[in-house]
Amino acid sequence: MRTQIGIVGAGPAGLVLAHLLHLQGIESVVLETRTRKYIEERVRAGLLEQGTVDLLIETGVGERLKRECLTHHGIELRFNRRGHRIDFDDLTGGKTVTIYAQQEVVKDLVEARLAANLPILFDVENVTVHDFDDASPSIRFRSSGKEETIHCDFIAGCDGSHGVCRPSLPPGAIAEFSREYPFGWLGILAEAPPSSDELVYCYHDRGFALLTMRTKQISRLYLQVPHDEDIDGWSDDRIWSELRQRTAADGDWKLSEGRIFQKNIAPMHSFVVEPMQYGRMFLAGDAAHIVPPTGAKGLNLAVADVRIMAQGFAEFFRTGKTSLLDRYSETCLRRVWKAQRFSWWMTSMLHRFDTDNAFDRRRQIAELDYVTSSRAARTTLAENYVGLPWD
Ligand code: FAD
Ligand code: PHB
Repeated sequence: MRTQIGIVGAGPAGLVLAHLLHLQGIESVVLETRTRKYIEERVRAGLLEQGTVDLLIETGVGERLKRECLTHHGIELRFNRRGHRIDFDDLTGGKTVTIYAQQEVVKDLVEARLAANLPILFDVENVTVHDFDDASPSIRFRSSGKEETIHCDFIAGCDGSHGVCRPSLPPGAIAEFSREYPFGWLGILAEAPPSSDELVYCYHDRGFALLTMRTKQISRLYLQVPHDEDIDGWSDDRIWSELRQRTAADGDWKLSEGRIFQKNIAPMHSFVVEPMQYGRMFLAGDAAHIVPPTGAKGLNLAVADVRIMAQGFAEFFRTGKTSLLDRYSETCLRRVWKAQRFSWWMTSMLHRFDTDNAFDRRRQIAELDYVTSSRAARTTLAENYVGLPWD
């Protein structure tokens, strides 16, 4: 097999890249170790920045998104039993964010790829990447019991945080920067209409909680839990009781409850590699950086990376020039580090840390009080939350 770009991974990064390349007339093959069903059912992100939504719509894969999404004009920060709205319309000149589940984005992109009869191979095994330090890289893998090789001009490592591309780089080729948090998020999906029209981020002595949603009938709810927590210790009753306590508010507030049909715990860390490229291998999305989900940036960063990467490949195949590709990492990392900073800041402001003492708690409350009462501070939060400019 021969193609121009060998794409490892059919998450948002790999699928959006393949789609953008197709629109530029550039060939690619997408390889995915999981089945189609698995990636289309995997429950993860839900919040899309305006830039991500615009890109999906402008490139023709946003029809169902337009019909089914929920557009949000603000969020609520809740602490000391009171809610404070951050009004994006007012603070960002009309920008919004959108609820549309990651697996729905994945479904739309897979469908578009298959409808165009373009190559995407699911359920492949033993993927290895070779010779990306010279001009003829290749990818080897097993598919339907047969050993296969794809020869390509470039490899796009879109294989997430546990993929093969990043670990295949030679020792010393990249530097890694990371931060661990002593907690994770327990996430549930429940058959319950959202309690509030917008997302509610709750700071509480018992730990952070987030109320978000998937549709007008389905709530998505998160609780801060210790990083090594066992999900078996969390009965449905315990989850609802904890959510009720952490989201409690004065006045006319009631948590909407229903049957829980999905539960998982995700650990939290911050991670960046520099540079995001080596020879003819380019990394994008979670393969290159991970953010804690408090800022809702992971999927959006993945889309921003591959947009830049696709522009670089387009320039190369049109003109033979590598000026955009040479600057790929530098261009992405400026935005990545700002998203890292924002995600770390939201996480630090809203979560309880093992080392917290009464001083830290008062400092967090003072920060929340400042953020919600100063227009300058609200604007800072809002412009980062809706998404900083692409480049
Ligand atoms: P992935 O989605 O991980 O895709 C990588 C793909 O590569 C996978 O399909 C994997 O199976 C495949 N793969 C792995 N190894 C190989 C291999 N060797 N060969 C071939 N294929 C391989 N982000 C947001 O923007 N907004 C949110 O609201 C948000 N909420 C989140 C909530 C939670 C609880 C979590 C856990 C994450 C959240 N995120 C959010 C982050 C977001 O889900 C990720 O950043 C996003 O999935 C990154 O996309 P990706 O394509 O880079 O990686
Ligand atoms: C989600 O809807 O899953 C979601 C929303 C906002 C976040 C994280 C996750 O900060």
